[in-house]
Amino acid sequence: MSHTSYNDIAGWYDQYIRESPLYRGVFLPQFWDLLGDVEGQTVCDLACGQGWIARELARRGAHVTGIDLAENLLALAKRAEEQKPLGIVYLQGDAQNPQAFIKGSFDGLVCVLSLMDIADLQAVFQTMQRMLKPGGWLVFAITHPCFQAPHAQWITTDSGEVARVVRGYFKEGFWMTATPGGVRSRVGAHHRMLSTYLNALVAANFTLEQMLEPMATGERARQVPGDCEVPSLLLIRAHLL
Ligand SMILES: C[S@@+](CC[C@H](N)C(=O)[O-])C[C@H]1O[C@@H](n2cnc3c(N)ncnc32)[C@H](O)[C@@H]1O
Repeated sequence: MSHTSYNDIAGWYDQYIRESPLYRGVFLPQFWDLLGDVEGQTVCDLACGQGWIARELARRGAHVTGIDLAENLLALAKRAEEQKPLGIVYLQGDAQNPQAFIKGSFDGLVCVLSLMDIADLQAVFQTMQRMLKPGGWLVFAITHPCFQAPHAQWITTDSGEVARVVRGYFKEGFWMTATPGGVRSRVGAHHRMLSTYLNALVAANFTLEQMLEPMATGERARQVPGDCEVPSLLLIRAHLL
C-alpha cells in the first residue's frame, strides 16, 4: 500500500473541512444538485477522508461504504459513526488497486477532492469501473485543473481588477504550493491537464453527463474575490456504459 501524508495532518484536515467556506458554502450545494436522489442506493465514497460526505449520503438514505488509505482519517470517520450511527461501513484500501475491490458492488460512487492526491489516475478510474454495477453513476470533484495549476497566482490589474495568472499548465506532475495555510502546501497535488482527466474517464468506459464550475458566493466570495472571476473547483457527473 502506498504512503499518504494525510495520516500526518488528519486532525488539522478534519478542522479545515469543518470550517472551509469553499467546501460548505460553494461546493456542497452544487454537489448535491449534481448527485440528485440517492435514497436506497448503494454508494461508495472513495477516498472518503474523515467521512463528512459519507455521513451526508447516509442521512439522505444511501447505504454507504467509505474507503480511504489514511488510517488516521478513517479513525475519525469511525469515531463519528460510533457516536452517531448511520450504518456506514469504513474500509482501508488503495484506490489505485482495482483488484482489491469486489466487482459490480455499487449503484453509485463519489470521489470528492481526492484525484489530485493520487498518482495513478487511470488505475483509479479502473477501480471505479470495477466497483460499479453496469450503468452505475460517478460524481467526482477536483480542484479546477485550469486555474489551480502550479504557480498560478492572483494579481490585481492596473485598473484594480482581480485576475488569475496561470503558468505551467502543460507541465503535469506533482507539485506543492508555496502559499501557506491550505491543503496543497501541506500535502501537494498531482497537476494534470483537463484533457488528461477527461480522456482517462472515457478510457475507463465512462460517458460524461454534466460538468459544474461553481462561482463563489457568500463568505468565500468575500474571502477570495477572484473565485467570482474563475472557478476553483470542477464537478463532473458520468456513468458507466
Ligand atoms: C483532500 S482529501 C479528501 C477527503 C474527502 N473526500 C473529503 O472531501 O474530505 C484526499 C483523500 O484522499 C485519500 N487518498 C490519497 N491517496 C489515496 C489512495 N491511493 N487510495 C485511497 N484514498 C487515498 C487521502 O487519505 C485523503 O483522505
